[in-house]
Amino acid sequence: MRRKLVVGNWKMHGSRIANAQLLAGLKEAGPWNADVAVCVPFPYIAETALALTGTSIVYGAQDCSAHEQGAYTGEVSSAMLSDIGCRYVIVGHSERRAYHAESDQLVADKAKAALAHGVTPIVCVGETRAEREAGQTEAVVKRQLAAVIHTLGHCCGEMVVAYEPVWAIGTGLTATPAQAQAVHAVLRAQLHAATDRSGVMRILYGGSVKADNAAELFAQADIDGGLIGGAALKAGDFSAICRAAAQ
Ligand code: PGA
Repeated sequence: MRRKLVVGNWKMHGSRIANAQLLAGLKEAGPWNADVAVCVPFPYIAETALALTGTSIVYGAQDCSAHEQGAYTGEVSSAMLSDIGCRYVIVGHSERRAYHAESDQLVADKAKAALAHGVTPIVCVGETRAEREAGQTEAVVKRQLAAVIHTLGHCCGEMVVAYEPVWAIGTGLTATPAQAQAVHAVLRAQLHAATDRSGVMRILYGGSVKADNAAELFAQADIDGGLIGGAALKAGDFSAICRAAAQ
């Protein structure tokens, strides 16, 4: 039995005041019988760490550099994330693939850099609406995951995978549990061929997960939790999703 993992992806939202309220609300609502993490904007990581001291909620970042260190203005290394206690880092989110032209290989290199410093990469894969309509969903997610498996080698069993159909992110359109499960099963099979850890690896679903659809999604055989965007910004909504994961 895989323990569920729920990760809040705050994206570029928040302020010191709003974050303090959100984290206080989560502290009050927890703990849950599930692993819970928040991936926050870089400037707020240190304060988040302080706010979460003494709780079981862990924290992470939303991106990292593929480079170790050096003259890369504006970049943040996984060594730095590790240094300030990040447990997770999201890599290859579709917004970074789309707006920052991140390639499958760059995403894989970021995942490798994270693992090298003991930060677990949450590797996002997912198809666009056009790709789904063209019947390419499986091919797209397999291609995206293959680059990471190839680059990580035997360490690939240490990552978390997140299936996030691009057409479902922030749109209110959620993949049906059956649609999501079908893709998760494909990803599990691909992991199975690559690592003997496939049975314990967590594959999260992301894309308009809300308090009222989370339980049904999380009940699917290969859905091991969620990567939550909009609903992670309100303590009540996010904690309801964490509760759904704990069932
Ligand atoms: P959403 O975002 O829950 O707002 O759809 C999910 C994500 O992009 O990680």
